[in-house]
Amino acid sequence: MLLIFLIFISIAQCAQELSDIEKIEQAYDCDPKCWFREAEVNSSTITQWPVNCTEVCGIMNFNAGSDLPVFELQTYFKNLRVLKGVLQFSYTKYASIEFLLSLEEIHCDAVTLGVSFSFNSNLEVLNFNNLTNITCDFYAYNNTILDGTEFCDRYADLALMFVYNNFKNCKGCVSDQLHSTELDKFRGCTAIVNTMFFMFFNVYTTQPPIDLSPLSDIQNISGCLNFYSTDLHDFSFFEKLENIKSNKYANVDINIFESYNLTRFRMPALKTIETTRDNFIINVEKVHDDFCFTPSEMLFFLKNEVIFSKIEAKICQNVTEEDGEDDCIFDGMSKLDNNCSDVLGKITIGSGDEAYVEKLRNVKNIYGGIRIENTNLTNLEFLGSLEYVASLNDSAVPFQISSNKLLQNASLPNLKRVFSTSRYQIGFQENGNDFLNSTACLFLMNQLFLTNVVFDGNECEAIDRTNQNNGANWIFRLNFFILLLWVSL
Ligand SMILES: *[C@@H]1O[C@H](CO)[C@@H](O)[C@H](O)[C@H]1NC(C)=O
Ligand SMILES: *[C@@H]1O[C@H](CO)[C@@H](O)[C@H](O)[C@H]1NC(C)=O
Ligand SMILES: *[C@@H]1O[C@H](CO)[C@@H](O)[C@H](O)[C@H]1NC(C)=O
Ligand SMILES: *[C@@H]1O[C@H](CO)[C@@H](O)[C@H](O)[C@H]1NC(C)=O
Ligand SMILES: *[C@@H]1O[C@H](CO)[C@@H](O)[C@H](O)[C@H]1NC(C)=O
Ligand SMILES: *[C@@H]1O[C@H](CO)[C@@H](O)[C@H](O)[C@H]1NC(C)=O
Ligand SMILES: *[C@@H]1O[C@H](CO)[C@@H](O)[C@H](O)[C@H]1NC(C)=O
Ligand SMILES: *[C@@H]1O[C@H](CO)[C@@H](O)[C@H](O)[C@H]1NC(C)=O
Ligand SMILES: *[C@@H]1O[C@H](CO)[C@@H](O)[C@H](O)[C@H]1NC(C)=O
Ligand SMILES: *[C@@H]1O[C@H](CO)[C@@H](O)[C@H](O)[C@H]1NC(C)=O
Ligand SMILES: *[C@@H]1O[C@H](CO)[C@@H](O)[C@H](O)[C@H]1NC(C)=O
Ligand SMILES: *[C@@H]1O[C@H](CO)[C@@H](O)[C@H](O)[C@H]1NC(C)=O
Repeated sequence: MLLIFLIFISIAQCAQELSDIEKIEQAYDCDPKCWFREAEVNSSTITQWPVNCTEVCGIMNFNAGSDLPVFELQTYFKNLRVLKGVLQFSYTKYASIEFLLSLEEIHCDAVTLGVSFSFNSNLEVLNFNNLTNITCDFYAYNNTILDGTEFCDRYADLALMFVYNNFKNCKGCVSDQLHSTELDKFRGCTAIVNTMFFMFFNVYTTQPPIDLSPLSDIQNISGCLNFYSTDLHDFSFFEKLENIKSNKYANVDINIFESYNLTRFRMPALKTIETTRDNFIINVEKVHDDFCFTPSEMLFFLKNEVIFSKIEAKICQNVTEEDGEDDCIFDGMSKLDNNCSDVLGKITIGSGDEAYVEKLRNVKNIYGGIRIENTNLTNLEFLGSLEYVASLNDSAVPFQISSNKLLQNASLPNLKRVFSTSRYQIGFQENGNDFLNSTACLFLMNQLFLTNVVFDGNECEAIDRTNQNNGANWIFRLNFFILLLWVSL
């Protein structure tokens, strides 16, 4: 099934994209003399191999027709250190790959399926020797006598490994689409390889209700998580899930879609989220109206520089946080506690509140927003600890500084990100004697992650992020559309 899925993805991408050779040409630095452009490696094509090159661009495709003996290949490949392109090894008769002993790096992130070994019935071992770098996912499956154990142990940190259906595989259970009736096969699995795809997955609306406990041992998922049309209430069945190490396989790392009974996220043990793309992407779309992220969940995402493709969510109000520390709830500056670190609500500092601003000295995170208006404050030093501001279900600019005529300085040394779905996250208006010019504005913005600053109606930077997002969404939908087609076949 995984294979079919892959083929579908490749067809989808080929239809709209370039051939592998074109992708290699565009992505990598290639010496025109060091190409191998033949469709496969065999006794008639091998003469085209650029023997003297240490870095070769192209496709090394070994298959049932590959008729060259190992010793001969060894002489051809003895100088090969870096392959930029594809290494494909399917239905061959080879028992080992000692002709690739000198290979040190495979640059393959630019192609659809970079490195794969499949259906090689004699292949016993993946004896790479000097390999130190693979820039794409590694596939080895359905090689009946292959023992991948040593390879897996040695290269576990190098690439995401899909080594399955061989005689011996990497640790971890391979998953793809999950059927609620087949969960038992995951009992005892502590590590999952590949996407976990909960699609049309009904637990409570099925009789009898589905037992989710087989998923409770999972600690690591190497791949993305996808919830697409489910009746789940939250994800607390992932009791022990600590690490998600996603890849570019789908367009989103955690996708939550059409789960109208979902009110909370709740992965109690989650500690790390990583992805091979630049930023971890989460999509929250079409969930229960009450769906909320707790302040700690939101903070975790902010700290990990998560990008939200959509976030139809609120911040949970009035929850007792797991870490035991309750957040301060804002109800006016005069009533605020002296030493809050996390504040829930929209902080407003107006004329007359100047005397209380020192109360904010230890505030690190604000869930809601902050507005400083009509004060005679001269600087924002009292926000020296502030790191994150997040506002979810609100179209207003979350951090506003307006009409503070004496303000001379807007330095916020620890601020890292202000998050909202509105176009701008920080707005300055009619403060001081024009102390904030475009240079100072850019300086402030450059220290922040994905935070747009606007001052007196001028954008700090004219990047239209909205359009970028729409593009990503479109591709993402296309892939789902293709999947749906495939499922309905
Ligand atoms: C080698 O591969 C080429 C390209 O696919 C093919 O045309 C040729 O017939 C093959 N030669 C042998 C000896 O299999
Ligand atoms: C490779 O290098 C050897 C020795 O330097 C030389 O004899 C040979 O002609 C070169 N081959 C090619 C294809 O350039
Ligand atoms: C592997 O690397 C070592 C150290 O760099 C080198 O001595 C050896 O020749 C390399 N092996 C092959 C087969 O190229
Ligand atoms: C692998 O090679 C790529 C491309 O040269 C480089 O960007 C990356 O840092 C390398 N990774 C490791 C672990 O050496
Ligand atoms: C791959 O291996 C698995 C498990 O051994 C087997 O069930 C499956 O049929 C094989 N796939 C193909 C296409 O042979
Ligand atoms: C999960 O991942 C962590 C960090 O990479 C690793 O230390 C741990 O051994 C993994 N656990 C399992 C069960 O694979
Ligand atoms: C939500 O849960 C209720 C009660 O369990 C159930 O009746 C309803 O069908 C569920 N709705 C969806 C969309 O799953
Ligand atoms: C918060 O929760 C507590 C206990 O669950 C409840 O007594 C209190 O009324 C709630 N406060 C608000 C503002 O909802
Ligand atoms: C205020 O909070 C900080 C950090 O949370 C702590 O180090 C400090 O002791 C607290 N001060 C008072 C007076 O509670
Ligand atoms: C700031 O305004 C408050 C009243 O809003 C006033 O008491 C205070 O003296 C003013 N401070 C300065 C420096 O003007
Ligand atoms: C956002 O959600 C909070 C909590 O449910 C609610 O009090 C507030 O009115 C909402 N704001 C908007 C603009 O929807
Ligand atoms: C902009 O403001 C900064 C500091 O506020 C100042 O150093 C700089 O000279 C100003 N630049 C211009 C072009 O006004």
